[in-house]
Formats: sequence, C-alpha cells, structure tokens
Amino acid sequence: MMEKEKLDFDRGALIQTAIDNLDHSYAPYSGFYVSAAVLMDSGRIYTGVNVENASYPAGICAERNAIFHAISCGEKRIVAIAIVGGANGEIRDYCPPCGICRQVMREFCDPSRMLVLMAKSVTDYKEAILDELLPDSFGPDMVPGTLAH
Ligand code: THU
Repeated sequence: MMEKEKLDFDRGALIQTAIDNLDHSYAPYSGFYVSAAVLMDSGRIYTGVNVENASYPAGICAERNAIFHAISCGEKRIVAIAIVGGANGEIRDYCPPCGICRQVMREFCDPSRMLVLMAKSVTDYKEAILDELLPDSFGPDMVPGTLAH
C-alpha cells in the first residue's frame, strides 16, 4: 500500500495513461472526448472514458467510469486522478471534472489530500486537491449509521 503521506507519485505516468486511452472515448453526440486515469491507494491505476448514449442522459463521464472501474475491482481509496479531453479528441485546454464527478470522488477519498490533475500534456497540467474544487463538501461521514467508510 502507498503511504498516505506520500503523494510523490509519477504524475506524468498517470497523465500518459489517460492520454493513451482517450481513443476509447465513445462520444458521437457531443464530439467531446474525455479520458481519466485514477491512482488508488493500492498503487494500481484504472482507466475510464466518457460513454455517451442515443438516450442522452444515459451517458456517463470518464471520471466516474474510471472510479467505478476501480471500485468494481475491489479498490477503496483514491489517491489522484488525471483527466484529459477536448472536442474531436484534440487536447487544447485543461479539462475540469463536472460537479457530479467531484461528488463521486468525495465518496472515496480524503478531500484534503486527493489530487486532481487537469492536463494538456504530461508536463503541462493544473493540479488541485479535491477540497479546492468541492469546498464544504458533503461526504459519507455526514450520514450517520450507514456502512459507508
Ligand atoms: N464529460 C466528462 O466525461 N467528464 C467531465 O467531467 C465533463 C464532461 C463528458 C460528458 C459528455 O460525454 C461530454 O463530456 C460532453 O459533456
């Protein structure tokens, strides 16, 4: 397991994983391709892309697909997530996570430590902790008597 204090992971490698998977995005309706790679506290990385649908609301974001992928494989806690995306699959700007994805991240991390990397390339990225992107957040600890961790 990675040390909780250690956030000196290879940011470039996490971003590169997201970039490498961008081709898998299924975005025929918006034309906006997004890819995410999430690093879990096991040290493993899981990928996800946005997957749209002819019934538009049935589509889902890349970040949630990556996180649900990890949780489905038995992972528990997020260390960091890298996000890339752009119209027609061309990465021209930083791609911030939507509000729903920020809330899903909140469920599986320490928001004062989890890192969100919004990348244009492996060397050009913006970095924020989740607390900065989702201040005063509502999390599992606020719901007493549940089995949430
Ligand atoms: N999208 C993501 O995958 N992640 C975000 O955080 C923002 C939006 C996707 C959803 C939709 O398929 C497309 O980008 C346009 O909104």
